[in-house]
Amino acid sequence: MALTGAGISVESGIPPFRGKGGLWETIDPMEYAHINAFQRDPAKVWRVLIRNMKEVLDRADPNEAHRALAWMEKQNLLQAVITQNVDGLHQCAGSTDVIEFHGNFAWQRCIKCNARMATAAVDLCRLPPRCRCGGILRPECIFFGELIPPQCLRRAEQLSAHCDVMLVIGTSASVYPAASMPFIANQNGATVIEINPERTALSGKVSDFLIAGNAGPVMKALVKTIVERL
Ligand code: OAD
Repeated sequence: MALTGAGISVESGIPPFRGKGGLWETIDPMEYAHINAFQRDPAKVWRVLIRNMKEVLDRADPNEAHRALAWMEKQNLLQAVITQNVDGLHQCAGSTDVIEFHGNFAWQRCIKCNARMATAAVDLCRLPPRCRCGGILRPECIFFGELIPPQCLRRAEQLSAHCDVMLVIGTSASVYPAASMPFIANQNGATVIEINPERTALSGKVSDFLIAGNAGPVMKALVKTIVERL
């Protein structure tokens, strides 16, 4: 199994949330990424957070680390990816079994009639963008204060409990329940391997190894080692 976070997409040009250059250093998540904030002032959240995210994600392509995980799946070495990312880059790289814990930014949903629309087709001239029925559109992503879809959570917990190795790539492991997956894996006897240039709350406690480095080069080296031993 792999659990991925914002760090795996940093080399694709998408900034992380925490730490140096992180999004939450410049904007307050409670003011822009909480469901109450969206309900209070959707135009403000669209203007400051969602529109900018769209610009950044539009430019991003998968990197070596996304491709390495897709390759591992094809080799039957990786069962699935649980990702906290909403950028869809795992699927772009070829991964087919991706549990999108926090949703996917590629889609919008009308809060009134529930119609679904591709983010690429949304007219951003007037914010917040609206559905044909007049309802406001929101990304199919989880805001703070919202629940993870139960089927997503259940499947992630099951896979975490039954894996023998969990790669934890590019996540600060500070947002729950996603961050509980390495705990579940560890409690059920799996080896937990972090790939991250920094230590996290898991390091030395829940994870057995920390490969200190950026996801792209580390995953490339991992694939090379696997190929040499296959
Ligand atoms: P964070 O921004 O909290 O953490 C990113 C992690 O990636 C940090 O531990 C960095 O050290 C690491 N990192 C940075 N560059 C890296 C690289 N090139 N290769 C590997 N690792 C690198 O991101 P998440 O843990 O994903 O939720 O954050 C979890 C959730 O918090 C997000 O899904 C989002 C956010 O608020 C919602 O919006 C609901």
